[in-house]
Parts: sequence; C-alpha cells; structure tokens
Amino acid sequence: GDYTGALRPQIHYSPPRDFMNDPNGMFVDAHGTYHLYYQYNPTDIVAGNQHWGHATSKDLYHWTNQPIAIYPGAEGEGIFSGSAVVDVNNTSGFFPNQTNGVVAIYTLNTAQEETQEIAYSFDDGYTFTKYANNPVLSINSTQFRDPKVIWYGETSSWVMVVSYAQDFVIGIYTSPDLKSWTHASNFSHHGLLGLQYECPNLVPIPMLTNSSLASPLTASNFAPDLNMYLLAISINPGAPLGGSITQYFPGTFNGTVFTPSDSATRIADFAKDNYAGQWFYGIPSSEPQISIAWASNWQYSQLVPTGPLEGFRSAMSLPRRNVLANTTRAPYTLLSIPVDLSPLYTTPSPLAHSTSANTSLLLDYSTTVPSGALHFSLTARNIPAANASGTANFTFLASSTGESLRGGFYFGGDTPFWIDRGHVTGFDNPFFTDKFSVTNLIDPDTRAFRLEGVIDRSLLEVFLDGGLRSATVEFFPQGKMDTMRVATAGLNPGVEVEVEVWGLESTWV
Ligand code: FRU
Repeated sequence: GDYTGALRPQIHYSPPRDFMNDPNGMFVDAHGTYHLYYQYNPTDIVAGNQHWGHATSKDLYHWTNQPIAIYPGAEGEGIFSGSAVVDVNNTSGFFPNQTNGVVAIYTLNTAQEETQEIAYSFDDGYTFTKYANNPVLSINSTQFRDPKVIWYGETSSWVMVVSYAQDFVIGIYTSPDLKSWTHASNFSHHGLLGLQYECPNLVPIPMLTNSSLASPLTASNFAPDLNMYLLAISINPGAPLGGSITQYFPGTFNGTVFTPSDSATRIADFAKDNYAGQWFYGIPSSEPQISIAWASNWQYSQLVPTGPLEGFRSAMSLPRRNVLANTTRAPYTLLSIPVDLSPLYTTPSPLAHSTSANTSLLLDYSTTVPSGALHFSLTARNIPAANASGTANFTFLASSTGESLRGGFYFGGDTPFWIDRGHVTGFDNPFFTDKFSVTNLIDPDTRAFRLEGVIDRSLLEVFLDGGLRSATVEFFPQGKMDTMRVATAGLNPGVEVEVEVWGLESTWV
C-alpha cells in the first residue's frame, strides 16, 4: 500500500488499498501481538465481496499489513463480521498439541441465508482452515449476523452475542466447544432501534470508583468488587444524526442473561463517524478494555473522495482504553481515551505550550510535523459555578486553500462544545453533517473543562471531560492542513488555561 497520500491517516489504521468497513476478530495472541481483522473488499473501493483483511501490531499504532486471512468460498458468498478467541484449553479439539490455537467465529452471508461459521488457526491467527462441519449456528434467516464470542470462566463456557438484525434482538448463546451452541436468552428492543441491530459486543469492563475521574486509568482506581459488563449494539440506518452509530448498555451478566443497569439510552460518540466498534479478546478483565471502531458512516462511506483520489476507503478509529465511570452527572458512562500517544511524539517537549488565560496561539506545523498529525489538549480550571463566561476555540487551517476545521467551547450556562467541518471543501454530500455538539462538560467537583484531541490528515477525534464524551469526525480537505490556532476570550478572572500541542511521527512512512 501507498500511505503517502494527502488524505491518508498517518497514525490510524487504514487498508493498503480498496474498501474497508468493520473491525473483526480483534484479539491479543500468545506473544502479545494485537491482531486486527476487518471487513475487506480487495477488488473495489465500495463494499461487496467481503473478506477478512488482516493486520498486526505490537503497540496498536504501528501496523503490519498481513495477507488476507479468510476468503469467501464461492461466488456470491461474503465473509461478514465476527470475532476471534484463543482456545487455550483446546475446548474445540482442533488443537491437541498447543495452547495458542485461534478460532474465528464469523457470519457467512449468501443470498439465501446468514449463518455462523468457524475457522481455526494453528499459527496465531495468520492462516485459517474453515471447519468441515460449518455452519455451527443456523436459524434459516437472512438477517442473523456478527457473532462476538468471549469466555465466561465461572461456567467454563463460551458466550456468543449475535444480532437478529431486523428483529432488534441480540441473542445470547453458550457453548462448551465453539462448535455446538445453545440459545440462552435474548436482549431485545432496548435503546435506539434504528432499522437494524448490528455488531453486538459483550465485554467485562472495570468500573472506576467515584472519586478517581481525574487520574482514571490505574488499577488502584478501579472498584474491585464491581464486575460490570458492557453490551454495545450498533444501529444502521436510523442513528439520531443519520446513518450508523453505536449505542451501549452498562449492566451485569451471569453467564446466560445480560441485565442493563437502567433504561437509559447511551450513544458512544457525539459525531457520526464511529461504527461497529469491537473490543479485543484477551485483555485481562481487571484492566481497561481496548476498542477500535470503523471511523465512517454507511450514509457516505462508499462515496468519500479517498476512493477516487487515493484508491482506498475508510480508516479505523484510534485504539481506545475504556472503563466505566459512574458519577451523578454521568451515570454508568463509557470512558474512552486513546492508548498512550507519547511514544509517537516528534519532540521531547511540546511544540506549543501555553499557560496564559488569554491564549492566542498560532502554530505553523507544515515543516516541523511532516505527518500532519497532532495531539493537543486544552484544560481550563477554576471555572466559576455561576455566571461563567467566555470561549475557547481551536482551528486547523489549510493555508493553500483557506479551508478550516473548527471547534470550541462556550463556558457559560449549559452551552456546548462544538465541531464544524463545514469549511472543509473536499467532499460535498447532503448527509455529511457539518456540525456536532455536546453539553454538560464542566466537572462540578474540580470546576474544570478538559479537551484532548488528535488530528490526522482526514480524521479528527476529540475526548472531552477526561473521556466521558468523545467524537470521531472525518473531513476531506483539498489543501493540506498546516496551521493550528487556539484562542480563548472573555474568560472570568481567575480561570486558568493550559494548552499543549505535540507533533506525532507517522507510523506508516
Ligand atoms: C456492519 C455490517 C455488519 C456486516 C458487515 C458486512 O457495518 O453491516 O452487520 O456483518 O457490515 O460487511
């Protein structure tokens, strides 16, 4: 693949060429290597002819493209989304001589039916053999897909969540051996329905103690006795902002039944480009769980200009560390922050650092950061509880075309943080929504507003309020973004502001 194109993300995963959608089969192997498979059409820049593409990484940022891992068997077949596990105890019987056997569980799509199949790998997930007695699960439906499997230790059982897509049902099945599956329960008609439920994930997730939001992701900050699970369900079409989005349900799981904590509807992202996220199999349940999502939307993913211009479509989101937080303001909320970016920093100290309450920063990074990728943060402290005022805005500019990608925060009242991609001109589509916003971001205990973000050629991701809110935003500039501006104005006396900007080394070129 050629990763030098002007729209090619430099620290995100994108396929060598052609069309990619959902992440699949994510697991950590016996050597600590992360495996990412993905829905892949290797013969076109639109969806169809689905295979499992494959890439591996030691750090979740530097990826090595691997040969396609699973091929359709016949014309008209598609290898649809699914998951992978390591069968350490050889429950499947495929691996009499090893503890690192890998089993992939995926949907076979044909015009007649969607069934669940398995394939096994003796070499840590690089090559697979399809099971001779496939399918392992079939209900005579054309809308039954996206199996995600985990191990449930208390009952020594495999657990699958799988979507009855157009019935708005997530089926929970159990198996001793990954070959025979027994229906255990259904989770149905919860939250937003959209037109289909897709890509369910059930994942054990550590929960933070109430007081630890400020420095969240160390084990001593997890509430040890709270064994929570997260059930994520992607919906498409019919997301509130159009097209596809992922919602999630915090709750408990007893091996057969998932019980949500409450009846609230929670969406994982306040923009539009985060779908079909998956959590890695094999991360200890006492640690933050790691997810990657498809950074696009079915409304326009097959139309975006990276196809004709650079021969590929879609990238994955940043790898994210996830825990559950539980505060009065954000009950049982999925907290997302990027996997540590500091190993990619271009310099030992930030490119820009400001501690002025009246920040006015103009950073030309055209020569200092060849990748064009930046990691930036803005923190404001001592925001008064009443009559807060002022703004903190950031802008990325393409000096050759005058395009800009903008965002900012209003300190007063219940006003929002906003993002605007409407002044970036390389893609014109009625569903490519310009503006996104989210409210209720000031921490009442610390009186702080916190923003962290990454810009990477054609992707912006922001993490607000320590990761309680996040957004994934594609944008397609005609010129190269090369200048960053950060400005605060009209803040109350005593408010402290700190801004940091770091350059990121390309992990691709
Ligand atoms: C979600 C999805 C899945 C399906 C796959 C096909 O984006 O529609 O339900 O398995 O994509 O590529």
